[in-house]
Amino acid sequence: MGILSFALFSFVVWIGCNERNLAFLKWNPQYLYILLPIAVLSLLIPALTIVLCLRSKDRLGIVPVLLTVLGLTIAMVTFFSFGVFSPHTDKPVQLMLVDSAGSQGYPSVAAVWYTQHPTKSTLSYGTQAGRLSFEVGENHKQHTHGLIFENLIPHTTYYYSIDGQPEKTFTYFPEYQGGLRFLIGSDAHIGAETNDSEATVKILEQAADADNRYSAFFNLGDTVERGDNESQITSQMQLFSPYTSIVPIRSLIGNHDGLFGGDNRWRTYRYPAVLPSQSSGSSLYHRFDLSPSIHVFMLDLEWGTESYTAGQRAWFENELKDIDKDDLVIVMDHAYFFASSTKYHGLPWYDNQEMIDTFHKLFVDHGIDLVFSGHDHQMEHITRDGVEYFIVGALGGAFDNEPTYISPGSLFRDFSHHGYADLEINQGTVSVVLRESDGSALYSWKKQWKGNNLF
Ligand SMILES: [Fe+2]
Ligand SMILES: [Fe+2]
Repeated sequence: MGILSFALFSFVVWIGCNERNLAFLKWNPQYLYILLPIAVLSLLIPALTIVLCLRSKDRLGIVPVLLTVLGLTIAMVTFFSFGVFSPHTDKPVQLMLVDSAGSQGYPSVAAVWYTQHPTKSTLSYGTQAGRLSFEVGENHKQHTHGLIFENLIPHTTYYYSIDGQPEKTFTYFPEYQGGLRFLIGSDAHIGAETNDSEATVKILEQAADADNRYSAFFNLGDTVERGDNESQITSQMQLFSPYTSIVPIRSLIGNHDGLFGGDNRWRTYRYPAVLPSQSSGSSLYHRFDLSPSIHVFMLDLEWGTESYTAGQRAWFENELKDIDKDDLVIVMDHAYFFASSTKYHGLPWYDNQEMIDTFHKLFVDHGIDLVFSGHDHQMEHITRDGVEYFIVGALGGAFDNEPTYISPGSLFRDFSHHGYADLEINQGTVSVVLRESDGSALYSWKKQWKGNNLF
């Protein structure tokens, strides 16, 4: 009885002490109606037991037994449903952008995978099929594998193999019409009953199609419905791997990925500790330079500002100090700043005032050009004070309802097509095309920028 009560009480304390759980309750206050009875029950069980034992003196009675069964049921359902007992299972290979500069300035790329049983692996690669003359290997057996391709040459196609398995191929920062091309999307929500994984796969096909010449796929979070659910993560990685083993992916953690301790699994699989994080030292937020005058900041903003720690703020503001306002500066994160939407459970899921107050002036003052976010499940373009905000939460999750609030500055909105943003950076121009999952264009935007230095 005491153990059960302790388990329930521990659960309540864990909810209360975990910042991501608190953010979840802040944005979903309806769940307090479940949590509060559990908290009361965790205290009521020992209280009632003591009272009843004192009254009956020598026998336990039916009420404590029923409470035991109830407590046991709640505890088991809770711990199983929150994935506490889910073992880590094998995860297939993906190529991932790494927060460390390669030999020619572009970000490094690593092959990343996970094995339930530790192995000591070798990555072989080269520029000709069947002749993999470069090798990088691990020093000891390990579960989490992240091997960086060394000395890659931009615009070059490589073949690679891990431990002698069939070769795969990818091109390191292929040139696209004299510049670079990136695919950006968010909110696949793999594992949700309402998601459209066929649309997700179509978008992945676009990302990996060699003719499209995408340098990387920026995935802005809510990749799975529940980040604490091991089987959802495994299914998602199996779904993505045929494509993300061809085009490098860099994922951000979304609020769903971080649910109920999911951030630990995210760190294990999406940015494992074996990978360096040169600019930020964090696995959750990064800076990538695509030339001396093109910079991408990826921030950890899951629900909103709740995950904007003092450390992340100091890092971001310090990084911005040295950036020329004429440079092309792109920010990516999960949670939206400005957005058109409606209220859910009485809370506005549009224009997040805390986010706007914290970041918009900073963006304006430092010449941030483009901001890409997800979280709201739509595609939208909002322009405010020279900052272009794009929402790209259409990778496969259920669409948001038609908006009851239109954000001032909203130039384009789509709540009925899955799709993605196609970012093209050329000498002197930058363009964003919002596309449907089959690649057809829904909306185009373009502007000049002063910098013209590609690596
Ligand atoms: Fe989402
Ligand atoms: Fe989200």
